[in-house]
Amino acid sequence: MKIIDLRSDTVTKPTQQMKNAMLEAEVGDDVFGEDELTNKFQYKMATLFGMEAGLYVPSGTMSNQLALKVLTQPSNEVLIESKGHIFQYETGGASFLSSVQLLPLHGKSGKLNAAQIASAVRGTYDWEPETKVVCVEHSTNKGGGTVYSLDELRSIRKECQRHKLYLHVDGARIWNAMVATGQKAHEIGQLADTLSICFSKGLGAPVGSMLLSSSKNIAKARRFRKMWGGGMRQIGILTAAADYAVQHHRPKLAMDHQHAKAFAQAIYETGSLTIDLDSVQTNIILFDTGERTALEVLDIFGKKGIKMVPFGPSTIRATFHFQIEESDVNRLIKVTKSYFNN
Ligand SMILES: Cc1ncc(COP(=O)(O)O)c(C=O)c1O
Repeated sequence: MKIIDLRSDTVTKPTQQMKNAMLEAEVGDDVFGEDELTNKFQYKMATLFGMEAGLYVPSGTMSNQLALKVLTQPSNEVLIESKGHIFQYETGGASFLSSVQLLPLHGKSGKLNAAQIASAVRGTYDWEPETKVVCVEHSTNKGGGTVYSLDELRSIRKECQRHKLYLHVDGARIWNAMVATGQKAHEIGQLADTLSICFSKGLGAPVGSMLLSSSKNIAKARRFRKMWGGGMRQIGILTAAADYAVQHHRPKLAMDHQHAKAFAQAIYETGSLTIDLDSVQTNIILFDTGERTALEVLDIFGKKGIKMVPFGPSTIRATFHFQIEESDVNRLIKVTKSYFNN
């Protein structure tokens, strides 16, 4: 029985074609700036998002943390929605690596709005920390895969400009956000001071993210990447996989969203599990387990070879990716109906 692994979109394995692209990569030493494939790929991504420069890094976490490092001074405050990855899942890195404090704000489905930013800005008095950066996630992770409209992003940007704040966009799943909204890469890029994008989520590369920003910020980030042990040598082998993923796996994301919607509909129809269908916007779904605990429900699915993750005592997250096929979704729906329909 095939395991249907919906724990994350990071569980995909490189395809043979991706491995071929990696094998064929011409490499050089990137610490010397001589890995031409990586140089070209960084330029390609920066151009796509309308930014001046890009820096390939091992993870989305490093990319986010580098962004905070280049945008802040110690003791600054960073505004973030309380479900944000930087607040929840980066081991307190912002305080350790940049000596800044995060101010978590409670938004809706992991999203902030301009009014919240306006009322949270501080720094007028010398006993307050100085607010310096706003972080938004597009699409959200713990928020359940929700996306911002361009209007929402633009009003956040305007608020940032009004208060002289930098805007960091954590675009670990920006590729999904673009599919769901029809937004163009440069439309998002032009609103951000720093933008973090990932290749190892739904795009299916084995490793890698990229920080995009001005040439000045990227030069600064490059020094900190080295300091933090992230200077890498023949990384063309990895950026070849990332480039392959952007070219060949990006078109598959729309299918992941359809699969997520189909599963969400089945959950909605059970009557025993509950879900807000409006919140199903990309490849991630969050649902409530009703009278059963999340662990009980996970156990039932687990016995049928279906893996998901608990996101609270009675909440489960399922994440779709291109290695989940139509037949897997049919099996998933069948199991859902037979065990959970009232
Ligand atoms: C929104 C978001 N940002 C950043 C990251 C961090 O990425 P990585 O696991 O590559 O450090 C993740 C990981 O899932 C994420 O969901």
